[in-house]
Amino acid sequence: MDSIVVTGGRTLNGTVQVSGSKNAALPVLFASLLADGEHRFDNVPRLRDIDSTEELLRSLNCSTERDGNTLTVGVRRPDAPVAPYDLVRKMRASILCLGPLLTRYGEARVSLPGGCAIGTRPVDLHVETMQRLGADIDIEGGYVIAKASRLVGERITFEKVTVGGTENALMAAVLAQGTTVLENAAKEPEVVDLVHYLRAMGASIDGEGTSVITIDGVDELRPNRHRIVPDRIEAGTLLIAGAITGGNVTVEGCVPVHLQALIDKLRECGFSIRTGSESLTVEAAASWQGADVTTAPYPAFPTDLQAQFMALMTQADGTSVITEGIFENRFMHVQELVRLGANITPMAQVAVVRGNRGELSGAAVMATDLRASASLVLAGLAAEGETQVNRIYHLDRGYEQLERKLAGLGAKIRRVAA
Ligand code: EPZ
Repeated sequence: MDSIVVTGGRTLNGTVQVSGSKNAALPVLFASLLADGEHRFDNVPRLRDIDSTEELLRSLNCSTERDGNTLTVGVRRPDAPVAPYDLVRKMRASILCLGPLLTRYGEARVSLPGGCAIGTRPVDLHVETMQRLGADIDIEGGYVIAKASRLVGERITFEKVTVGGTENALMAAVLAQGTTVLENAAKEPEVVDLVHYLRAMGASIDGEGTSVITIDGVDELRPNRHRIVPDRIEAGTLLIAGAITGGNVTVEGCVPVHLQALIDKLRECGFSIRTGSESLTVEAAASWQGADVTTAPYPAFPTDLQAQFMALMTQADGTSVITEGIFENRFMHVQELVRLGANITPMAQVAVVRGNRGELSGAAVMATDLRASASLVLAGLAAEGETQVNRIYHLDRGYEQLERKLAGLGAKIRRVAA
């Protein structure tokens, strides 16, 4: 298995370009199942999770063709609307084909994704939503088996904010009969991006980006072309990379407002952040203060940047209290950061980080999930000596050539093939 070796102590400087968003691309690619014909997506990152999605789409009779960052998906009726365990276990987001397959074909058989390193991550809210829209659901042999002659619009209040649950509900409701109202819906930019594509396909939707989304079902949708929104989590990770090395780094091609919670926290720490219309710059700082962070649904601080921010806090003056408000087990990077010399005390979903500037020293560490891997790479940039981050396949699920982007900013970093 490949690993990444970082030699710490270099200051990053320069400009780096952000890729398209993984978490926006995945639902949009599954939305293509809603209409036969050729869908064209621009700014699609090259990632393992995108490969897994293509594989699942191909198993459903679709064709996929890449030309640079443009991905064309040709959709045709599948032999059977099934997402098998073999494919779903590679990527939990595969559950997002439940809504489109069910609403389109009146039935769907989608494997339950199973456990996940960052928490139990049930899909009960996805399943309940389909039931509320009129589907009969059986759980059999590890599969969700859903049937409905035609889904019927409903008023659905999510008991907690769920990004994937909102996306699945949207994709199911666009072809349902009548009006669906989603309350306590997710407001994430990735949900908004999905609505933009559904609307381009002919769907009638109002209220995206707020907690109440109204969908008037239509009889048919048609394929279209769509540009995937920039990846706010990648942008945030690169900004923190600049910050942790005390460098001047500009992240280009992002949507600054999508990162407001991070910008506010970095400013609270004492960093100077400049915002352009599509760029963010962190200016060199010799030292910074600790800041407390609690992750929560958008527009609050994202759980997907918690691990990276924690790496930055290990180098702050003072203490920061980091509370993970979304997932119950998303502190697996803590023990690995501690192996690098960080002073962190985890307590259930709260971690107390006592900043210890200049005290990290390189070691071999193990990546346990996507964002944990990024956090270890960031810590490696600030550590003395060599840090070897193993099990880097997690990183490849969600970051497009992170090591090349960091090397372009002056990091001493290389991928080592196993
Ligand atoms: C999305 O996951 C992202 N994945 C995650 O990014 C991100 O961490 C998460 O949203 C939160 O922002 C994709 O977009 C592909 P949720 P999702 O449903 O949709 C609970 C990354 O690193 N819940 O909003 O699965 C759940 O357990 C990844 O790129 C239920 O209880 O997250 C969690 O506690 C990791 N029942 C909370 O809701 C359900 O049926 C929010 O999860 C669904 C969710």
